[in-house]
Amino acid sequence: MKFKIAKLLLGLLLVCFVSAIPKPEDKEKDESHHIPEKDHLNKAHFEGGHDEIHEHHNPQYDHEQFLGEDEAKNFDDLDPEESQRRLGIIADKIDEDKDGFITVSELRAWIQYTQRRYINDDVGRSWRQHNPDNNETIPWEVYRDNVYGFMNDMTEEELNKDENGITYRQMLNRDKRRWQSADQSGDNALNLEEFTAFLHPEDHSTMKDVVLIETIEDIDKDKDGKISIEEYIGDVYKADGDDEEEPEWVQREREVFRDFRDDNKDGFLDQAEMRSWIQPNDFDHAEAEAKHLVFEADENRDEKLTKEEILDKYDLFVGSQATDFGEALARHDEF
Ligand SMILES: *[C@@H]1O[C@H](CO)[C@@H](O)[C@H](O)[C@H]1NC(C)=O
Repeated sequence: MKFKIAKLLLGLLLVCFVSAIPKPEDKEKDESHHIPEKDHLNKAHFEGGHDEIHEHHNPQYDHEQFLGEDEAKNFDDLDPEESQRRLGIIADKIDEDKDGFITVSELRAWIQYTQRRYINDDVGRSWRQHNPDNNETIPWEVYRDNVYGFMNDMTEEELNKDENGITYRQMLNRDKRRWQSADQSGDNALNLEEFTAFLHPEDHSTMKDVVLIETIEDIDKDKDGKISIEEYIGDVYKADGDDEEEPEWVQREREVFRDFRDDNKDGFLDQAEMRSWIQPNDFDHAEAEAKHLVFEADENRDEKLTKEEILDKYDLFVGSQATDFGEALARHDEF
């Protein structure tokens, strides 16, 4: 049980973390004047790894974290033909004007819709769990007892035991800090809107600072408050052996650090540099993902997709976390 809760929490942190960070293909946007061709993006994608930047390294684990274990199971249980059929139905739905083509803007609208739906479902579930009486707010103490109550029976040693890079005590403190950021009214209790910001801070401007701090803490292994190039790389790539040569995408990532991320060239990313990386001002996650999917699947290069092009790139779409296709495929109400 303890483990389950911890896993759940880590999942929560992970999901927030993941969705707060622009995916690597967006580099294509902000550095397109430096990195020639979309080739960069294309290769990176197929070499694997690069696409998983800052999303942890076990796809099945991600999948579960994102879909929720139950949903993920349903989806994995579908046979390929059935999932293809469902993907086809979704493709028809995305094609809003029913002209047989899916444009970037139709795809972007769908991505926004599924993300909103995912967030609302997720928050609704948590809200009912922690607030069965549907009171106006959830007090911190109630949430803490529900989620971290098991810590009351733990020894000091257990509280400070490292669980995937974070201790239970750190988890609690981190949640408390995030709770306080979400608590706009300052009454130490969250209403539904504040609770949404708490669980899914990525869409809330008031949560930017705490998301930035959490992200730095995750990557900053030596806890000196800034990100070295090794920490930056270590977050996305672990060498298997000492003499293994680093893949090309990792070397490119080092150049990205030196040439673009480390603005003042002191060898580290400070808060400001981290912010412009993970929270660029005009970043539209849904649009970036829509463009990426169209680019990857657009066989005849007409900048829009047909149902066939989508089905041909079945794996790409089903694996796309941002589009939530996996989740949509497993939903009962759609089919
Ligand atoms: C909801 O509010 C009522 C009345 O204040 C209180 O007795 C009850 O414990 C609250 N429920 C939760 C889950 O906090």
